[in-house]
Amino acid sequence: MLFLNGELVDSQDQIINFQDRAFHYGDGVFETLRIHRGEIPTWPFHFERLLSAQKKLKLPLENFFSDWKQFVDTHLHNIKSGCAKLVISRGIGPRGYRPPDPATINWWVQISDLPESIVCNERKTNEQEGKQLTLCSHRLSRQPAFAGLKHLNRLDQVIARSEWGDLSEFDEGIMFNLDGHVIEGTMSNIFWLEGQQIYTPNLSFEGVDGCVRRWIIKHKLASHNPVKILEAVSLNRILSADAVFISNSLSGIQSVARIQDASIPISTLVSKLAIEFNGYYA
Ligand SMILES: Cc1ncc(COP(=O)(O)O)c(C=O)c1O
Repeated sequence: MLFLNGELVDSQDQIINFQDRAFHYGDGVFETLRIHRGEIPTWPFHFERLLSAQKKLKLPLENFFSDWKQFVDTHLHNIKSGCAKLVISRGIGPRGYRPPDPATINWWVQISDLPESIVCNERKTNEQEGKQLTLCSHRLSRQPAFAGLKHLNRLDQVIARSEWGDLSEFDEGIMFNLDGHVIEGTMSNIFWLEGQQIYTPNLSFEGVDGCVRRWIIKHKLASHNPVKILEAVSLNRILSADAVFISNSLSGIQSVARIQDASIPISTLVSKLAIEFNGYYA
């Protein structure tokens, strides 16, 4: 099912206007949302990232925000479980980079079933089998002005993801910045444990500040071991960790069992955290 600006689009009419700036310049942002019992339980985290995009990219999202609640109430209320991809563009503009002023944004929502791999994985949360990660040679571009945002310019991830085949080979690839420091996965954030302490790379210069990443940081804030955010993370530090895990809005929190040829220990601390996060989908 596809919606444009809140209205259902007939499957025969699924055409994007050629003048849309998302198509020409990647001028916009997107969110991948998990629907549970007619709601998006982690919406406050997505909303926070959209607010940041509104500010940093000067996207006029006020009307979208006021229409969104109505859209969820009307179109998502009877969906038990699924996912929605929300794409927001600065909209139609004349030729050239100069943003139209005022701009009228376009927003699309595509609703689909949860991928089978996620449904299966959740049945196995208690076992936490662990994911297999590869190392991507394509480096992340550095742009502090956009770091953290989920903007539509995803060529780094596209090229990195082309470096391995299907999920039977590897589940995810680790991406490095221009200095060779670990930043994140192609579609997830990365964490590691040293004893009871959770660490994650700093994302001030590159990377997407994930919703689950922010949930983990917030969740641990009042604990004895709040998450430590580190700069210049070497691959060796991750390889010698007591556990490694990745996070993403659709799959939640997942243990890593192997990075390339190296085995990584599995920790019950990660399974506990994964179960706590999955409380959103109980
Ligand atoms: C490059 C990248 N980093 C991190 C994430 C995790 O973000 P979130 O927790 O909001 O799903 C994603 C999600 O798709 C991503 O594409």
